[in-house]
Amino acid sequence: MKTRLAQAVLLAAGKGTRMRSATAKVLHRALGLPLLEHVVRAVTGAGADPVTVVVGHQAEAVEAAFSGRGLAFVRQDPPLGTGHAAQTAREVFARHADRTLLIVNGDLPLLRQETLADLLATHHAEGASATLLTVLLDDPGSYGRVVRDAEGRVRSIVEARDASPEQKTIREINAGVYAFAVEPLLGALDRLRPQNAQGEYYLTDVIGLLVAEGQAVGAKTAADPQEATGVNTMAELAEAGLFLRRRRVAALMAAGAVIENPATTHIHLDAVVEPDALIRPFTFLEGRTIVRSGATVGPFVRLVDTEVGPGAQVLDHCFLHECRVEEKATVGPFAHIRPESVIGPGAKVGNFVELKKTHLGAGAKAPHLSYLGDATIGPKVNVGAGTITCNYDGAAKHPTWIEAGAFIGSNSTLVAPVRVGEGAYVAAGSAITEDVPADSLTLGRARQVVKEGWARRRREALAKGKDATDREGR
Ligand code: UD1
Ligand code: CA
Repeated sequence: MKTRLAQAVLLAAGKGTRMRSATAKVLHRALGLPLLEHVVRAVTGAGADPVTVVVGHQAEAVEAAFSGRGLAFVRQDPPLGTGHAAQTAREVFARHADRTLLIVNGDLPLLRQETLADLLATHHAEGASATLLTVLLDDPGSYGRVVRDAEGRVRSIVEARDASPEQKTIREINAGVYAFAVEPLLGALDRLRPQNAQGEYYLTDVIGLLVAEGQAVGAKTAADPQEATGVNTMAELAEAGLFLRRRRVAALMAAGAVIENPATTHIHLDAVVEPDALIRPFTFLEGRTIVRSGATVGPFVRLVDTEVGPGAQVLDHCFLHECRVEEKATVGPFAHIRPESVIGPGAKVGNFVELKKTHLGAGAKAPHLSYLGDATIGPKVNVGAGTITCNYDGAAKHPTWIEAGAFIGSNSTLVAPVRVGEGAYVAAGSAITEDVPADSLTLGRARQVVKEGWARRRREALAKGKDATDREGR
């Protein structure tokens, strides 16, 4: 059978009253992505084109969040129900009357593209006018119930609010995902009336209208009821996030990632863990983070848009943001690596070290208590404990260069812009304000003064009850 083209309309105009939030419901995030993003990916993955989003409540914010994605937007103002939302998009989808129309609620972050593809296949195979996605729930709660006749044919959808006690016991629910042939849908939308508990135009009523005029209406039941998890409340948002998280971790483990404690591991959809990378408990991998094979991350680590190279280690309690840790480098425990930093192959960043826009060369070390900002640090450099780059003069940021093999003594301050030449030594405790020549020893501190016997003389004076306040060695 030749593949039939599909288009999609996503419903995202509702207020989301039950969320009790000032933010539009579809912009709330589950596993790092807005709810609507999950749905956009699913319909796009199933081949729908064009994809039209019906927006209303906080329309500007939703449109801005999804601009530049090739989506079409239609405004529904005021939102008068899911059926009214579909009516609002009528002009857009009627333009492609030959393409099967997927209508999908915007609050279904667990819906998978494979399930949509199955729905379309069933719809086309049965030559139906409408095919709805259903799931079976032990506790069907507030979902719309699928009413079938004695022969098992779909008759209608009844909203929980409008259902009789007997209908309420129906376990098969409407997932809020539909495939329609455009022509019969247009006719049914014209005949929708807001005769229900909420006084809204229900898209679900279209099913009964199509059945009444003798159209073929079918249903496809998804194997995994989680896919129909609709987000209406903050509790459901958290639950959807949990399901997505488990699904992501399971997929990565199936592909060979070692995840010690899935229950405390958060891996966003666009983050990747390669086979044989080890993720220890309480670790968050966000954005486009990638952890390469043989690397270890965690416990208690958060990586955002960060790459961890093969065999590298990010130890306990680190936060890395928009940076790269190259092969076999080690970071932490307790390090903060800020954007545009690169930690070269085999380099080491130890505890209580902060890097910002800093490149640490191969095998270089900053093992303890340092701030290195806007710095370019060559291979095999040793940055002593407590070294600070003074990169900011109150107005502008300035660079520091430390060339290959240089040794920075502990507790040095490097006042930028400044350069430490190759192989140079900076004495501990130096304040370096001018360039340090290659291979030199540079001391930038006061010379030590020793006052022999001073402490003993002071003790003796105190013991005799004499004034001991001014005994500076005299
Ligand atoms: C809807 C279905 C219900 C189904 C459930 C699945 C209807 C009448 N009911 O109920 O049968 O079991 O989804 O999760 O469709 N929206 C608009 N414009 C509006 C109203 C809503 O765009 O005027 C959007 C919302 O932003 C939301 C989606 O449509 O993304 C669903 O609306 P919602 O109010 O959540 O419907 P449910 O009560 O969950
Ligand atoms: Ca809903």
